[in-house]
Amino acid sequence: MLAEMSRAKVMGTGSYIPEAVLTNRDLEKVVDTSDAWITRRTGIKERRIATEGMNTSDMAAAAALEALGSAELEAGDLDLVVVGTVTPDRQFPSCACVLQEKIGALRAASMDVSAGCSGFIYALSVANNAIRCGEANHALVVGAEVLSGVTNWTDRGTCVLLGDGAGAVVLSRTEDDTGIRSIHLRSDGSFGNLLYSVDQCEDRPGPGVLPDMSALKPYYLVMDGQKLFKKAVECLEEITLWTLQRAGVDVSEISLMVPHQANIRIINALAQRLGLNTDKVYTTIEKYGNTSSASIPMALNEAAKGGRLAPKDKLLMVTFGAGLTWGASLVEWSI
Ligand code: COA
Repeated sequence: MLAEMSRAKVMGTGSYIPEAVLTNRDLEKVVDTSDAWITRRTGIKERRIATEGMNTSDMAAAAALEALGSAELEAGDLDLVVVGTVTPDRQFPSCACVLQEKIGALRAASMDVSAGCSGFIYALSVANNAIRCGEANHALVVGAEVLSGVTNWTDRGTCVLLGDGAGAVVLSRTEDDTGIRSIHLRSDGSFGNLLYSVDQCEDRPGPGVLPDMSALKPYYLVMDGQKLFKKAVECLEEITLWTLQRAGVDVSEISLMVPHQANIRIINALAQRLGLNTDKVYTTIEKYGNTSSASIPMALNEAAKGGRLAPKDKLLMVTFGAGLTWGASLVEWSI
């Protein structure tokens, strides 16, 4: 009975932003592109690239430790670790288990969630449900990606968009009237052809037959940008309106929207459709590009630490990504 009345509230946030900066000017030397084109079509000026040898779990651990510090909790307090990522260190064990070991969250159950760029909101939903149903008191939710490792650096249509990074939040059970007010997820696999990975498995001769290892291609992503753009704006608007309705919150009450950072034109189109003033929209795309599952928690940490959120503020997070997947959450801020 107690569990049914509980909510999950955000206790702390953290992020890891790789030091190495790759500017649009740098990319002009890699592919046939220009700073003017990238800026006008996407809003991106530069992105961060992980140091060679740095894995997703390393960045996730740095973000997680910052989030735990601001929550004033220890890793040993965590009951659950959920990582949204499309670039786990390896297929298995999960990035979350590697992370759990790195930070010493030895009591936690750990798992990855694969939902394209929606990984963080999907992971947040998993943790929210675990807390609400009484399975966890404290949960770590991470979005972390080393996209530079899966980028086709000869494809100007995608390589200019992506960056690396990690973000994390700590959720705790509360009986207060704050925290996650609503969270909703959607997917439609019939649009899977708009954004997908081409990976080693496609070169495999078949189950039980060893592939020629020297012929394996690295895993990289393929995208139909124009179709994805249109679908994204529709999906983002639909899920936002539904999430607000379920939370009983009007657009005019939103204090801050932290959307997935894929393209500034997508973000602006969404804000315009919602009738939300751009000063209520938090963007980091100009600095970090699209960091997939990491983009929302990275931006959220920056917004929170930069004084853009106060207790009782109504925060909207909204995302879309490969799958297609999309989702949104309305959170009453609590720190
Ligand atoms: N630099 C210069 N020119 C480029 C370029 C680049 N980096 N990338 C593509 N172009 C060219 C194309 O070849 C095309 O040339 P053409 O007209 O001679 O054929 C032209 O620019 C227009 O390409 P198009 O793909 O129609 O551009 P666009 O306005 O749709 O912008 C994206 C491309 C990728 C920026 C945009 O479609 C987008 O952001 N889509 C959504 C992507 C997304 O959100 N992905 C992540 C999902 S989580």
